[in-house]
Amino acid sequence: MIEVKVVTLRLEAEGIVGIELRAADSSPLPPFEPGAHIDVHLPGEKTRQYSLCNDASDTSLYRLGVGRSATSRGGSAYIHENLRLGDRLTISEPRTLFRLSPEADRHRFIAGGIGITPILAMIRWCVHHERPWELHYCVRSRSHAAYVDELRSFGGSVHLYVDDEEQARIPRDVGMMMRNMDAGEHVYCCGPGGLMDAVAAHGEQAGLPPERIHFERFAAPPAETRVHENGSFSIVLARSGLRCVVKPEESILECLERHGVQAVSSCREGLCRSCEVALLSGEADHRDYVLGADEQEANKSLMICVSRARSSELVIDL
Ligand code: FES
Repeated sequence: MIEVKVVTLRLEAEGIVGIELRAADSSPLPPFEPGAHIDVHLPGEKTRQYSLCNDASDTSLYRLGVGRSATSRGGSAYIHENLRLGDRLTISEPRTLFRLSPEADRHRFIAGGIGITPILAMIRWCVHHERPWELHYCVRSRSHAAYVDELRSFGGSVHLYVDDEEQARIPRDVGMMMRNMDAGEHVYCCGPGGLMDAVAAHGEQAGLPPERIHFERFAAPPAETRVHENGSFSIVLARSGLRCVVKPEESILECLERHGVQAVSSCREGLCRSCEVALLSGEADHRDYVLGADEQEANKSLMICVSRARSSELVIDL
């Protein structure tokens, strides 16, 4: 855990506050990769994940952009209403689940709303390393478009799609955003679920190999679209030998907590990978948004905050 203080707060666009954090003791912060995020611990035992959007070579500070969520469970609302200059916060070390592919010759970015934040750090890297890139950035209105002047100053190709000016046309526009792709070009998408689903569907339709499309989710899909069939199953902790039954209405993580076992977790929505545990036997029913299809198929680990079991028992490395 790192203690930081808030050194800058500014409005980047309507509903988006920009925050700069420096280490409380003024030491350099841990290095990070473009696309990385940190956990920010907020009052009331709330933990939220925010992407770092500054230049990854500058470890004197971390820059975040926080969008005010209409469905805020207290995280973004606290930041928008209560956070003040000089406040101290505890954050995690940066983690990277969304990264630039070393295989790519060109990078094509598709961002929706606050999904621009990890992409901004990636574009800074491309500019710094003189790699070709282009950005397709979808916003609700021009007043909601954060960082546009900065993005345009980088000299790359920036396409802005403004919903209230040209009618929302996703997924039709996604075809346009993804046309004329070079063989070595990769796509990186971060934004609302509808945009990411449209990009995934278009990529599949266009025969783009899944390893050339990279996604970062910052919210789980709405509850009504998630899998709901939950049965009970047994979980065995290999190290302690503890065996317990996970009830249909609880997660493995909650079951462990009910038995006094404190496991690491953060988002509790299958988004951040902090609760990943090695799976020693049994077959998982993966319900996270971070493991790739190949990792889910390999069945070597699972996110205990959301995933369940296809077999009657799972043995995990805890
Ligand atoms: S706590 Fe974030 S994936 Fe489980």
